[in-house]
Amino acid sequence: MADRNIQVTLANRPSGWVKESDFKIVDRDVPKPGAGQVLVRNLWLSLDPYMRGRMNDVRSYAASVTVGEVVESNNPALKKGDHVLGYYGWQQYGLSDGRELQKVDGKAAPLSAYLGTLGMPGLTAWFGLIDIGAPKPGETVVVSAAAGAVGSVVGQIAKIKGCRAVGIAGGKDKCTHVVKDLGFDACIDYKAGNLMKDLAEATPKGIDIYFENVGGDILEAVALRLNPFARIPLCGLISQYNSTQMHGLNNLVLLLINRVKLQGFIVSDYADRAPAALAELVKWVAQGKIKYRETIANGIENAPSAFIGMLKGANVGKQLVKLA
Ligand SMILES: NC(=O)c1ccc[n+]([C@@H]2O[C@H](COP(=O)([O-])OP(=O)(O)OC[C@H]3O[C@@H](n4cnc5c(N)ncnc54)[C@H](OP(=O)(O)O)[C@@H]3O)[C@@H](O)[C@H]2O)c1
Repeated sequence: MADRNIQVTLANRPSGWVKESDFKIVDRDVPKPGAGQVLVRNLWLSLDPYMRGRMNDVRSYAASVTVGEVVESNNPALKKGDHVLGYYGWQQYGLSDGRELQKVDGKAAPLSAYLGTLGMPGLTAWFGLIDIGAPKPGETVVVSAAAGAVGSVVGQIAKIKGCRAVGIAGGKDKCTHVVKDLGFDACIDYKAGNLMKDLAEATPKGIDIYFENVGGDILEAVALRLNPFARIPLCGLISQYNSTQMHGLNNLVLLLINRVKLQGFIVSDYADRAPAALAELVKWVAQGKIKYRETIANGIENAPSAFIGMLKGANVGKQLVKLA
């Protein structure tokens, strides 16, 4: 049977928690490249929390970053066998005129790493912590979603910069991984029910940088431990993404009293400086100073359940789907 291009598209725009029934599987012909075009077979699909927001848009499927292999080329800039980062969404094949494709070297690093530590999540950690957090040796850095793709890199960069790194993650196993495998100084299991007490014990000198990935109650608890002139790189608010009601910050006054800088950011703002940051991440991974885990689902049909699982914390490290 001829190869098919299986896609996952939205069946409904979700309201509140996204469900598997909000997606549908579509079976299409593999497209044929025209003049100047390339056909890419996607090998890895990245699943990212921001896609939940995109599902409220009018797109037919959630666009996403993929790593793939050029299988046919009518474009002199790309040849068969080249590996590329593309923005093809949840599907097995993609067609492109090559302009937005970025070549990656599968010999320098495993291809999947370009979607995680050596890709968008790693760069998010780098720019949020280094540019906005401006860590100084001896300071205390706290990061939420610490066992995830971004958070795991944040804490390890904090250690490289001579800081005390404290993670917040859901469950004992994740916290053990964050401390034992990733080298954080401490990790708090926010699901254990002692967040304030555990946070106070893990941050005896207060908090100088809080890298925010989740929002809600955790941000309010952290606010009580912030030192004067603390910085909060506001990276994400995953606790709100499936909520129909937004959670405010009741103790905002603490940010005023402590002259805290809170800055939201989007990693694409730093595109011009990404190559330099990426070179540093590549070096740290090669030196063993940054380690990473991946959680891998197999097959495009399993992308919806893996995506929902990631939003609920089923992943350790980067959530990926292996497509081929
Ligand atoms: N600003 C940017 O440019 C940018 C770029 C990339 C990512 N982000 C943001 O960064 C954050 C992390 O993204 P990621 O790709 O690294 O995902 P991730 O951390 O690998 O996966 C999401 C994690 O969020 C945690 N989580 C889910 N609901 C939670 C809740 N109610 N309270 C606390 N933790 C919760 C879960 O871990 P637990 O088991 O620990 O709960 C889950 O594993 C997200 O908010 C994302 O939107 C922002």
